[in-house]
Amino acid sequence: MKDKSIFTQAVHAGERGPRPDFTAVSTPIYQSVGYLYDDMADLDSVFGGTREGYVYPRYGSPTVTAFERAVALLEGAKDAVAFASGMGAIHAALTGTGLRPGAAVVAAADVYGATYALLERMFTALGVRVRTVDITDLDHVARAVAEERPAALLCEIVSNPLLKVADVPALAEIARSVGASLLVDSTFATPYLFRPLEQGADYAVHSATKYLNGHGDVLVGVVACSAERGRDLRERQKLLGANLGPQQAWLALRGLKTLPLRMRQHCANAQIVAEWLARQPAIAAVHYPGLAGHPQHALADRLFEGRGFGGMVSFELKGAGQAEVFAFMEALQMVLPATTLGDIYSLVLYPAHSSHRQLDPEVRAAIGISNGLVRLSVGLEEAEDIIADLAQALGRVGYDSQSG
Ligand SMILES: Cc1ncc(COP(=O)(O)O)c(C=O)c1O
Repeated sequence: MKDKSIFTQAVHAGERGPRPDFTAVSTPIYQSVGYLYDDMADLDSVFGGTREGYVYPRYGSPTVTAFERAVALLEGAKDAVAFASGMGAIHAALTGTGLRPGAAVVAAADVYGATYALLERMFTALGVRVRTVDITDLDHVARAVAEERPAALLCEIVSNPLLKVADVPALAEIARSVGASLLVDSTFATPYLFRPLEQGADYAVHSATKYLNGHGDVLVGVVACSAERGRDLRERQKLLGANLGPQQAWLALRGLKTLPLRMRQHCANAQIVAEWLARQPAIAAVHYPGLAGHPQHALADRLFEGRGFGGMVSFELKGAGQAEVFAFMEALQMVLPATTLGDIYSLVLYPAHSSHRQLDPEVRAAIGISNGLVRLSVGLEEAEDIIADLAQALGRVGYDSQSG
């Protein structure tokens, strides 16, 4: 390069040094869309799939692979495929179940709002029949599945925002009886609490934007599944895009390292906060699977094997509508009214105007999302500090709160 023009030197200087003969302890960010091989025959065999390697990031890239391998290990899966968002992951997994015109999907009625809208608007428009069910009523699910003979049965292991718990082993049996694939959105549980594939699910999907990454700084989705389903998803991804970038993969991999530590603390804090909320005269109802009165408390205890009940709590402010809930959320001083969950920070959200805004008010009411409902993602702060903030905010908007 010494004898070349400064234009040529500037383009190539410093790049493509000798291959390292060391291994980086922490996976580097491979910020490149091109990969070089010793000769064209090598590149050809990578393209042909007879040699492992990378050709173009829509076909896979090294930092993303590191994140995928980590998720697969934690989920007890043969493979995991990362996407640019949780919705990208859900869309890919749904298409992977074989949904096509004339096919059906049976889904929990209270899945995340965008998941519901994806089914109701996009898949319905493509000729897919969508039937929603109360996922906690197994007879109801079995009847719907027998009638529809769907390609896919879809649920959230812990639902958003009502925290209903799905009996995944029983649902897997129902799905198997008609050859349907069971797709479990495991965002709220994470593999710390529950591994859907070990209990009969075919796909475990995550908005890894939430607990898996955990730091509120990256949008990521991932699907854990069998090797065969993973191969199929990668083929789809080559055509559909929605790939995760290397920087996001690096952040998500870094976040994943503290998942069990964070989940342990989220669970412990949420239990304390939920029990406190349940004692407050201002609160009409608390939804948390760790409370003895929760309809699926025993099921959650069995499925999560005593590790806890997650970090999400929702509650209804007594007699409140949107104005009262907004006043309460604005009165909070530490807990943040930000539109996400599963972060280190404690966060509140008003489902009726955000995650479930896309639903008709009647549909929202029918699935139990009232105008007084608040969703709280309990963070990693000291539980007493979270409670103190909730108490002062209740006080500032005219509700009594009780300590102890
Ligand atoms: C349970 C659940 N699944 C899927 C999604 C969608 O994930 P993303 O926002 O990463 O696309 C969300 C987002 O809030 C969610 O809460």
